[in-house]
Amino acid sequence: MSSSEPQPITEGPPTPAFVIDEEALEILVTRFQKALDRNWPNSVMSYSVKTNSLPWLLSYMKQRGIWAEVVSDSEYGLARVLGFPPERIVYNGPVKSRALLRSALREGSLTNLDSSREVRWAAELARERPDLNVRVGLRVNWDLEGLCPGESTVGDAASRFGFDFDNGDLSANIAELTAAGVKVVGLHMHRNSRTSSPQVFQASAGVASEIISTLGLELDWLDIGGGFFGSLKDTELFDQYISGIRSTLSDVVDPQRTRLVIEPGGSVIAAPVELHAQVLDVKDIGRQRFVITDTSRVDLDPLFRKTTPFDISAESADQTHPEQVLAGFTCMEDDRLMVLTDYPTLSEGDRIVFRKVGAYTMSYGSAFIEYPPAVYLRHEDGLLTLIRRRCDVEDYLQCNGWSHGPSTFSAGSATTAAS
Ligand SMILES: Cc1ncc(COP(=O)(O)O)c(C=O)c1O
Repeated sequence: MSSSEPQPITEGPPTPAFVIDEEALEILVTRFQKALDRNWPNSVMSYSVKTNSLPWLLSYMKQRGIWAEVVSDSEYGLARVLGFPPERIVYNGPVKSRALLRSALREGSLTNLDSSREVRWAAELARERPDLNVRVGLRVNWDLEGLCPGESTVGDAASRFGFDFDNGDLSANIAELTAAGVKVVGLHMHRNSRTSSPQVFQASAGVASEIISTLGLELDWLDIGGGFFGSLKDTELFDQYISGIRSTLSDVVDPQRTRLVIEPGGSVIAAPVELHAQVLDVKDIGRQRFVITDTSRVDLDPLFRKTTPFDISAESADQTHPEQVLAGFTCMEDDRLMVLTDYPTLSEGDRIVFRKVGAYTMSYGSAFIEYPPAVYLRHEDGLLTLIRRRCDVEDYLQCNGWSHGPSTFSAGSATTAAS
């Protein structure tokens, strides 16, 4: 981690840079923890590493007693290196390796299986080592669109994750595990939805309730997943989510015995993060005005599907250009951030702050044309601390296994080719 003393950077950080607002992060994390304490004290908050895997952030979560939810061997390794013990890791995802699955089960990570090969490997381990008392959860594939029309992010298409209960696949896999001596003690229900509606989570809990009672399961954990929405303004939402889940399950689950696991990502990290950018150039082509910035969709919206709230501070108050196309620095024609209508006419050096960009931006961090931006932490008094310097050529060479001689490159000084 790269860090520095807090600095008064009144005009904003050097751009491009992400800025995490410490107070906003604290508010959202604490609010979710309190919603769990109030409605399901025997619960686990497990932060979704994929949503934003910035080491500073993972360490922040760990310090607050939050677990790590990981979906790959690399994420598992990252969580371990950052100090999460195996028993505070939720190990999910469709592509676990046999070696890590065996070690996670041996060391007590809360593990939800997602494929028949994982079922086979868990069964194999339980047969080899009956003394281990292997305990697993299974991810459930359920029909979100059928229960909450318009909510599925894949529309009418089926989700590809987990085991289908309706076609008997879930029961067949439970039977295979049980026969090998594995205890099936968890269900994992994660789905992503289009809106913040608490009904999505009640539907999810309803499906779990049906499975638990039909199959007579005694669960150690019910993992409802992530996919929650979070807003600084809506102070009730987290409570509504957890109380709705609790009331739906009250007939079939004893909350003292069964832990509720949640895997929030975007709901706690999207809103606290801004991306600060600057206008590099302005040009008129035909009737269009293009404003070229030092950021890109690659950093702002790697999935190319959002409209992002933003603030502009422009030198001029003129509105001589009713439409301005805000574009990224890359060479992709479609690296257009948005069309500004009736905004002050932008010029070189004007600043733009994009808001609510903490989820799925830094973790998609790309080496396309430029390397990932710096990250600052903004404290309550407005001062900034650098928590990740901007990646550079040296970092790029290192992570591509390339070593070179003593030469270095710095723009504006003599250059020497690396070999
Ligand atoms: C299994 C699982 N858990 C948690 C999350 C986190 O979701 P979000 O960042 O929307 O909270 C995801 C994201 O898709 C996921 O797939």
